[in-house]
Amino acid sequence: MEKKFKRTLITTALPYANGPVHIGHLAGVYVPADIYARYLRLKGEDVVMVGGSDEHGVPITIKARKEGVTPQDIVDRYHGIIKESMAGLGISFDVYSRTTSDLHRRTASEFFRRLYDNGQFEQQTSMQPYDEQAGEFLADRYVVGTCPHCGSDRAYGDQCEACGTSLNATDLIDPHSALTSAPVTMKETSHWYLPLNKWEDSLRSWILDGHKEWKSNVYGQCKSWLDLGLQPRAVSRDLNWGVPVPVEGAEGKVLYVWFDAPIGYISNTKEILPDSWEKYWKDPESRIINFIGKDNIVFHCIVFPAMLMAYGDGFQLPDNVPANEFLNLEGDKISTSRNWAVWLHEYLADFPGKQDVLRYVLTANAPETKDNDFTWADFQARNNNELVAILGNFVNRAVVLTGKYFDGCVPQAGALQPIDTELFATISEVKARLEANLDTFHFREALKDAMELARAGNKYLQETEPWKLAKTDMDRVATILSCALQLCANIAIAFEPFLPFMSAKLAAMLGMDRLTWDDLARTDLLPAGRKLGAPELLFEKIDDAAVQAQLDRLARIKEENRINSWKAQPQAPDVDFDTFMKADLRVGTVLECTKVPKADKLLKFLIDDGLEQRTIVSGIAKFYKPEELVGKQVVFIANLPPRKLKGITSQGMILSAENADGSLVVISPSAEVAPGAQVK
Ligand code: 2FM
Ligand code: ZN
Repeated sequence: MEKKFKRTLITTALPYANGPVHIGHLAGVYVPADIYARYLRLKGEDVVMVGGSDEHGVPITIKARKEGVTPQDIVDRYHGIIKESMAGLGISFDVYSRTTSDLHRRTASEFFRRLYDNGQFEQQTSMQPYDEQAGEFLADRYVVGTCPHCGSDRAYGDQCEACGTSLNATDLIDPHSALTSAPVTMKETSHWYLPLNKWEDSLRSWILDGHKEWKSNVYGQCKSWLDLGLQPRAVSRDLNWGVPVPVEGAEGKVLYVWFDAPIGYISNTKEILPDSWEKYWKDPESRIINFIGKDNIVFHCIVFPAMLMAYGDGFQLPDNVPANEFLNLEGDKISTSRNWAVWLHEYLADFPGKQDVLRYVLTANAPETKDNDFTWADFQARNNNELVAILGNFVNRAVVLTGKYFDGCVPQAGALQPIDTELFATISEVKARLEANLDTFHFREALKDAMELARAGNKYLQETEPWKLAKTDMDRVATILSCALQLCANIAIAFEPFLPFMSAKLAAMLGMDRLTWDDLARTDLLPAGRKLGAPELLFEKIDDAAVQAQLDRLARIKEENRINSWKAQPQAPDVDFDTFMKADLRVGTVLECTKVPKADKLLKFLIDDGLEQRTIVSGIAKFYKPEELVGKQVVFIANLPPRKLKGITSQGMILSAENADGSLVVISPSAEVAPGAQVK
């Protein structure tokens, strides 16, 4: 028997406030959580959805240092952007707070102190990377050096971004500090460790025996962690940004960000419900659902539950952790540092009034069981072919026909025919499927179910053809449009969790002032005679130009990233001196320069080489106007065999250097020399 709960606490992973939120965060966590919260609220359930920014940890300090500002400046900036843009997309948090709030810092500090006082930690010493010059311990990210796997000299102490290998700071060759460039030394330090091994048996039976219903990606990851055996984990760090360790003699140490962040769920609940928060955490008739991305599974299923068990005092563990996989963008991994993302605040500015389009596409493409890809072509196609052509089209036809034949008033239905009752039966079937899918966090399927209503509506109008009957049988037209409008009212309810903006607009057009899930599948939602609002389009087409602008932006970013990651090529194999000396390099003066017809890359040069005038063809037309080069001196190889290019015999090769962006720059002597001078 499925357990019945009185209330639900929905938590959403706290995004790091070191950048804005992007479509990957939305598809993985916030859109599904919001669908679920809205669904439960529509059902009249007691539900609280908490969120907030994760404002501690090394990613924030790195960003601050890069920009020469304080970590507080960084989190103030991004917390504001994140909070406002989430509200803009209709993510219906009951509270969206931050981990730098006093309440959170007190709550996290008190949590640590209780575990400390109850002897739940082990203190251990270890050797950690240290920067003598700065007098600071270094987080792994602050240690840079050469990757032992691929030789990249820009590897970090936790990962080499060139080859993707996970590393320890001690693996790096020639490790040095990102703060001062000083060589890294190892120094002893002492930290508090949570002995996860002590909780292994409890975790094993709680998850592996008690939660077989969890998503297989979550269950599977937990099983492999547990099968490997758990080790004590350090919960403090030597860092000057975070919640100070509340123990005497711990100056310069803060709580590890992954210790304080999940406690943020508790502080956020306290913030919104100062008097009743405990009910949501401790009452066995409450349940907690953690919406997260796959990289957070171990912290939510192993580490935080162990913290809660160690704390005791009635805290409950999550009932489910429906973690999603990752969303890629146009085939590449989304990355905040490489700006490879669609940022929510930019989307809202570029596509005003189109919040539901993004919500729709991210749900239809949600990475629920495997990584998925967002492409602008798919975004456009789903809007134009599904939202406009199926959903918007059905509602518009029903409302416009009602305007045309019944002066915009809901007509009185007569006797129903089988096709009408079939339509209503479809609504009941869809409701049952929707509930089954929403209750088990299958939001993609649930959205397909909801779309089934609009598809059924179009099919119904196509088959009943009320516009043809209007000449002969207005009673039948009244019944058909009445049925179609009742379906529209059901659509307003069924889509509320997914597309709340569309749903509100539709409900207003139909004069529905309150939507509840219980009403779904009712066929008397709109009383006969009700005057409808003026027909308004629910969705509009997105044209190629809008999509092209987004693709152009991504192309620019890709190019910038290519340039930023440009590195000199490794040196070519040796040549012996005599071989090199065989190349006759000379300076010549450009007498004439013209474009080669029908060849967009080629320029034809007439060069004074000190002996005669020679013709050379060179592939640099994209980078120079011919007249810019006339009178310049260039370096060329004089003794190459002549070659025919586009019918012109080229007597040599002009030397250029290739820039990071692929552009070519002609090599010239730094002062004028006699034409024919040899380059040695
Ligand atoms: O991975 C992240 O972005 C983390 N900031 C998530 C924290 S979730 C929680 F525990 F608060
Ligand atoms: Zn590498």
